[in-house]
Amino acid sequence: MAAEHGDVARFRWGPRHEYLLNHPDLIEQVLVTQQRSFMKGQALQETKRILGEGLLTSEGALHLRQRRLMQPLFHRRRIGEYGSEMVECSTGLQARWRDGDIRDMHEEMTRLTLAVVGRVLFAADLEGEASEVGSALTDAMESLQRFMLPFYGALERLPLPGPRRVRASRRRLDLTIYRLLAERRANPGGADLLSLLLEARDEQGEPMPDEQVRDEAMTIFLAGHETTAVTLTWTWMLLARHPEVEKRLHNELDAVVGTRLPTVDDLPKLTYADTVLQEALRLYPPAWLIGRRALVDVELGGYLVPAGSIVILSPWVTHRDARFFHEPLRFDPDRWTGQAEAGRPRFSYFPFGGGIRRCIGESFALMEAKLLLASIAQHWRLRLDPAQRVDVLPRITLRPRYGMRMRVEARR
Ligand code: HEM
Repeated sequence: MAAEHGDVARFRWGPRHEYLLNHPDLIEQVLVTQQRSFMKGQALQETKRILGEGLLTSEGALHLRQRRLMQPLFHRRRIGEYGSEMVECSTGLQARWRDGDIRDMHEEMTRLTLAVVGRVLFAADLEGEASEVGSALTDAMESLQRFMLPFYGALERLPLPGPRRVRASRRRLDLTIYRLLAERRANPGGADLLSLLLEARDEQGEPMPDEQVRDEAMTIFLAGHETTAVTLTWTWMLLARHPEVEKRLHNELDAVVGTRLPTVDDLPKLTYADTVLQEALRLYPPAWLIGRRALVDVELGGYLVPAGSIVILSPWVTHRDARFFHEPLRFDPDRWTGQAEAGRPRFSYFPFGGGIRRCIGESFALMEAKLLLASIAQHWRLRLDPAQRVDVLPRITLRPRYGMRMRVEARR
């Protein structure tokens, strides 16, 4: 659509008109300069059935209050404390690997990031608990995918297994999370995010109600693991296909980290690893679509977009636009050296969105992805199974359609 119709493309999706915006200036207009004229798109609103009124789905005054309250929890210095737990989870995963094993890296990375968010959110001793929450959530999100259709309203009123499954998963989730909340109340002072959410106070000194803590915990759990898992999965695929890039990464890791465990203090020195991840997020942005609903009539690129319309911004499309990225399909981490980067418009690259709704977990995600990448690549070289087909499955996140079976080869 972008190639044929340019920077503003209108199309029908069921009963609605939607607009795909393909220019960084228009994207900036929606996400930043005119953000107050928009709210989140309908598809995301559907996830409220599971996520309630958490940061990802709430709007207006509630969103602003929660964002202010939670921002300090995601500050770079604060989350740095979770670095060693991330590396421990990675070491635990690798202990199961044997030289020459064929493993599905999408599954492995999902298991790993689930373990990390479980540790960080619910504390180490609750890893079993976390995966229980994880499976209920994944299940619920799977059934929610069905509602990302124009007819979801009607579908929901029918006694189909989908909505019943969503309700059952929600009940399972609620039971677990409220039990964890009660345990945290009884033993305050923990460093896990759930304890910090319980302790957070707004400007009037008020804590969040339990239901809000539940919604925020679920939101972090969901938003915080699948995105990072797919980022790493695509990164392994790209490294396997570009041995020259992989070699440079290995050289950097050998020079900075060697064979000891990587720590957060190493991160500023791992500059090539940064560019590898940035470039992987360009070609395979996990959040490949960002939707908004116009609250009022808005002028966009010379067109009048009426109130109620859905506008769609796609990191996938914009990140692959030859106007902003020379030979856009080429995997080239050197695009991210200062000079090359300086000439590009701000919103030609927006894997974490922008404006007031910009990803609150960006620093967390980048720190996690880098530590997990470093701790694995220092010991292993990953090779694509020759029979592996590679394609995308664009769901809420950009998943690998056929998984990502790879052979793990010990580097030393
Ligand atoms: C590579 C990993 C990640 C990517 C690509 C990513 C991407 C995004 C994007 C694009 C948005 C904005 C959506 C919109 O404007 O409609 C967002 C929002 C959000 N993300 Fe992330 N995310 C990642 C990791 C994380 C992590 C690790 C966490 C939590 C630990 C997290 C928590 C959130 C939350 C709570 C929001 C909603 C923020 C708000 O509306 O105020 N994300 N993310």
